[in-house]
Amino acid sequence: MGRVEGKVAIITGGAGGIGAATARLLAREGAKVVLTDINDDNGRKLADEIGGTYHHQDVTDEAQWSSLVKSVESAHGALNILVNAAGIEGDVSGGTPENASYAEWKRVHAINLDGTFLGCREAIPAMRRAGGGSIVNISSIVAHFATPFTAPYGSSKAGVRHLTMSVAHHGAADKVRCNSVHPGLIRTRMLENIHATRARDTNKDFDAARAMSLARVPMGELGEPEDVAYMILYLACDESRYVTGAAFNIDGGWNLN
Ligand SMILES: NC(=O)c1ccc[n+]([C@@H]2O[C@H](COP(=O)([O-])OP(=O)(O)OC[C@H]3O[C@@H](n4cnc5c(N)ncnc54)[C@H](O)[C@@H]3O)[C@@H](O)[C@H]2O)c1
Repeated sequence: MGRVEGKVAIITGGAGGIGAATARLLAREGAKVVLTDINDDNGRKLADEIGGTYHHQDVTDEAQWSSLVKSVESAHGALNILVNAAGIEGDVSGGTPENASYAEWKRVHAINLDGTFLGCREAIPAMRRAGGGSIVNISSIVAHFATPFTAPYGSSKAGVRHLTMSVAHHGAADKVRCNSVHPGLIRTRMLENIHATRARDTNKDFDAARAMSLARVPMGELGEPEDVAYMILYLACDESRYVTGAAFNIDGGWNLN
């Protein structure tokens, strides 16, 4: 028996680094995985690889959320797990509170925060119908710190943390749990892009830009997407049945600074 045997899981951003690692792990532990993303090629490939299904979904589209949850319930009979992993870093060069455009501010919040809200709102009644469920929202360690170069990103992730607490409180009596996961520096496309941009902006090479970030991490190394996926697995399965509204850092000790 897998740790999430027979449970039905939607994973947004499932074609990307952390979402894809989570999809593989939940599938290996027996879940019926429904991946969604806007990157159709990677999403379809991964769904085939793990024996799951893929849906094209832009998480900012309200109508797509309701048709997705309806189709998952009718295909699989229930929705038990939702992992809100879709996210963007935004414009890493122009993200100071002084320079960020209003359009960019809204774009980052639309995907990272509004997309997570729409997912929670749609999942709550479906999970209630299923007798309970688990929502895992991917925030970031920067929800707790100032983010002078990526102010829209930091604000959106702090919003995800607050939303998580509201959803957890609202859903508790119906056993609809909601927790947030706060990754630090995890080796994915997003982090590569942040380091490449920081290297260009500071006239350093890529390794030097990465070393500057790593200097803040007591363990002195990057995390892997699987490190985050293992925490999500715990929160998704019944081992965490009494855990809700909590925040989990997966950051090699960055939060200690
Ligand atoms: N990598 C890190 O160091 C790190 C640290 C903290 C938090 N996070 C968070 O983890 C989550 C996953 O990021 P990742 O590092 O795997 O990056 P990634 O870019 O590899 O994956 C993100 C995925 O989201 C998808 N996506 C983007 N916009 C979308 C939209 N509008 N609708 C649906 N899907 C969309 C992308 O296509 C991609 O597949 C994000 O929420 C990110 O903010 C990452």
